[in-house]
Amino acid sequence: MEMTNPFYLTGIIPEKYFCDRERETDLIITQVRNQSNVLLTSSRRMGKTQLIRHIFNDERISKNYHTFYVDIYATGSLQEMVFFLGKAIYQELVPEGKKALKLFLSTIRSLAAAFSVNPVTGEPQVNLQLGDILQPELSLEEIFEYLEKADRPCIVAIDEFQQISRYPEKNVEALLRTQIQKMNNCHFIFSGSNRHILEQMFSSYSKPFYNSAQPVHLGCIERSKYVDFVVEHFREAGIEISPEVVGDCYDQFEGYTYYNHKVFHDIFAFAAPGEAVDGETVRKTIDAILEENGHTYSEIMSSLPIPMKQMLAAVAKENPARKPMSGAFVKRNALPSPSSAQKAIAKLLDEQLITYRVVDNEKEYSITDKFFERWLRETY
Ligand SMILES: Nc1ncnc2c1ncn2[C@@H]1O[C@H](COP(=O)(O)OP(=O)(O)O)[C@@H](O)[C@H]1O
Ligand SMILES: [Mg+2]
Repeated sequence: MEMTNPFYLTGIIPEKYFCDRERETDLIITQVRNQSNVLLTSSRRMGKTQLIRHIFNDERISKNYHTFYVDIYATGSLQEMVFFLGKAIYQELVPEGKKALKLFLSTIRSLAAAFSVNPVTGEPQVNLQLGDILQPELSLEEIFEYLEKADRPCIVAIDEFQQISRYPEKNVEALLRTQIQKMNNCHFIFSGSNRHILEQMFSSYSKPFYNSAQPVHLGCIERSKYVDFVVEHFREAGIEISPEVVGDCYDQFEGYTYYNHKVFHDIFAFAAPGEAVDGETVRKTIDAILEENGHTYSEIMSSLPIPMKQMLAAVAKENPARKPMSGAFVKRNALPSPSSAQKAIAKLLDEQLITYRVVDNEKEYSITDKFFERWLRETY
């Protein structure tokens, strides 16, 4: 019989295979119950989306709230966001029965035509097309009005929230903020990886979202907890791996969740019961992953203007890069000039190819994708 791979890389992680995050789960649940909105940030692939799912599954939430999750990463306009929000709410409510549906249709009048009830079978059907959202502002208002009337308090998670700053419509932030402020029955979890943008949105005094959510920054899963998790799941499958070997991999990827998970997923996929996994297996597995991704990485590099490419290689080499716009950094890495370095950093941040964290009041830049970072160091 095929063993389930305990290291889930996509989709919904069954509780058994969800690692730790107990403290963060409790913290966010407490905040939501205290009627606060939450701003959840972390580096990419650290575990925000999975944490939101985990929280929504927690009995303290699932028994008392309606929960809605929308990922707006791929959206480019308010219209699209409203489209996804409308769909998410409708899908959550369909199983609730006719009454909820009727209220939905009578409140969200601007979209009612798209959410209909099949006249023959009586089944609810959704026929919403992007083009149906003719008045996104009105639809948004109606959607929120509906959530206010729901029979339970609601939690709406908007993932990759930084995208709204790219919408072409004017004043989207102010518009959303005004609506959200009016609500009593509904709380929000805003989540995203782009610190650059989210920090500007939530911590600049002049911005509509200033101070409107409790910030929660998600770090790595604690080393000992992650190590125990990995060792235990291998042991259950009859495969031996030592805490040292797992810990060493964890350190190589600075505890970033996905990269470790991908390595152990692949090791697990090829290991047979009775086998022992050592450092050599880890090394080979990482090499195979880099080789597999190499093509994509080359494509990214070839699509970048030279100053960005050079900066990317320099950041990977220095990992982490401090003061990359300084004369010393520019000279050390043979970059054209500090002003070009500054532009390159801004663009790379914008494309989320690099990210930063603040240590002792100083920004430390690194490559967002840890496999890419290794590949860059090995290739340039
Ligand atoms: N608590 C966890 N337990 C097990 N795997 C996790 C956990 N958190 C994250 N992962 C792994 O890392 C991947 C990335 O997590 P995700 O929540 O999508 O990150 P983010 O939303 O921060 O970019 C997941 O698909 C999964 O493989
Ligand atoms: Mg995510």
